[in-house]
Amino acid sequence: MMNENEELKRICKEVIEQIRPDEEDRRRVKAVTDSIIAKINEKALEMGIEAHAISVGSTARNTWVRGEADIDIFIMFPADLSEVDLKEKGLALAKSVSDRCVERYASHPYIHAYFYDAERGGRRTEYEADLVPCFSVKEASLLKSAVDRTPFHNEYVVKRIYGFEDEVLLLKQFMKCLGIYGSEQRRKGFAGYLCELLILHYSSFAELLRNASRWQYGERIDLEGQGTYKGEGKDPLIVIDPVDPNRNVAAAVSEYSFCRLIDASRDFLVQPSMNFFLPRKEEPMSEAEFMNLVKERGTEFVMVVFEAPDEIEDVLFPQLRKAETSVKNMIERNGFEVYRSDVCVEGDKAFLLFELLVWSLPRIKKHVGPPVTSEYHSEQFKGKYITTKLGKKTLFIENGRYVVEVERNYTDVVSLLKNELKSCSLGKHVAESTDKGYGVFRNEEIKFSEGLGYFFRDYFGGI
Ligand code: UTP
Ligand code: MN
Ligand code: MN
Repeated sequence: MMNENEELKRICKEVIEQIRPDEEDRRRVKAVTDSIIAKINEKALEMGIEAHAISVGSTARNTWVRGEADIDIFIMFPADLSEVDLKEKGLALAKSVSDRCVERYASHPYIHAYFYDAERGGRRTEYEADLVPCFSVKEASLLKSAVDRTPFHNEYVVKRIYGFEDEVLLLKQFMKCLGIYGSEQRRKGFAGYLCELLILHYSSFAELLRNASRWQYGERIDLEGQGTYKGEGKDPLIVIDPVDPNRNVAAAVSEYSFCRLIDASRDFLVQPSMNFFLPRKEEPMSEAEFMNLVKERGTEFVMVVFEAPDEIEDVLFPQLRKAETSVKNMIERNGFEVYRSDVCVEGDKAFLLFELLVWSLPRIKKHVGPPVTSEYHSEQFKGKYITTKLGKKTLFIENGRYVVEVERNYTDVVSLLKNELKSCSLGKHVAESTDKGYGVFRNEEIKFSEGLGYFFRDYFGGI
């Protein structure tokens, strides 16, 4: 019988064989990358633009997972150029070399381009590339735009990663299957660069897992031992950026992603299995299945639906989360009780979901007044509630305080949401979108478009 360590090694080896690009993959990606760079440099010369292109990201480091090659090319401009010029010249240059492209915005405008090579018997292969204009600054900490650190990251990793590429691939695939790979706001997980730093620090995938299984909040990793970053005690994980000691590379890692990795590390070490590297392939939930679950649970599902604001995901998701929190608070201020909630974007619609333990309440509501012993406040209170035009209210004394029975504004959570959603602080974009109209649906009224079925599968799925 194999011991666990051998089993772990056997599984990692098998996974690597499947996710490591072969020599041919690497050769072709490199050829496409080189040709894009050459085209950009030529065009720059032709257009009289002072700029040059470099290859960065996982395809520059042989750390991309097979079949997912995304070519990252940065176009370096002089640091004294204006932001307006950088954008205008950078995007024009990038567009001029692309076979097909779309303009995108992260924190920064760039071009997502498609290239085709005519190799392999004339069959066209499509390659996707991010062409990102940036400033060529002297030091990473002197960045002018959000992406200026990237060339420094690249240099740091390229110099050190040789021999560790397979370990990075294992880690990326492991995290992808856990749903915690990528630093986007939607996911709040581990970016590719962070995975590379973790491997450089711990030197192998298995060693990283052994350490992660014992991580505590505020875990601090400082490869160069020169970190000055303090944080506010909120980051679960701190990985000092070796090229910018005052920055936490893991700032985007949420508590959930942090804990998910710790948990999975323990499970995998105890019982290594291929399953950790196989993407969960799940069927979307059907409306019938959903309704069965609703009945079984005895909770009430209420969904607020509106047109998704036309913003990039990294802007949209924090806003939806903010709206979710403020609507949840309003629901609870009105006496109802939320069990869980979530947000989702499918197609051109955004959804706020609330699962409720209490969604319907009696008309009557207790309103607690001041202590009887507080003479001034007592007088005010009695004045307000006994001599109202609405008629005399019955007063009680409970635990030394006046109590009056009043009528609840909303006895049903759906009518509350239909009437009062706008009074929540929804954030600019969500507010603008709900101004144009929104719907509130409960249980069987919730219509499953295809994407929603996946969302609900996830919602009920657990870890
Ligand atoms: P990627 O997101 O492509 O990550 O960004 P990666 O390390 O190559 O990993 P995978 O294998 O594709 O998932 C590549 C680099 O380019 C920067 C990122 O910060 C990262 O260092 N980048 C890319 C930007 O800063 N902005 C962009 O719009 C695109
Ligand atoms: Mn990439
Ligand atoms: Mn990319």
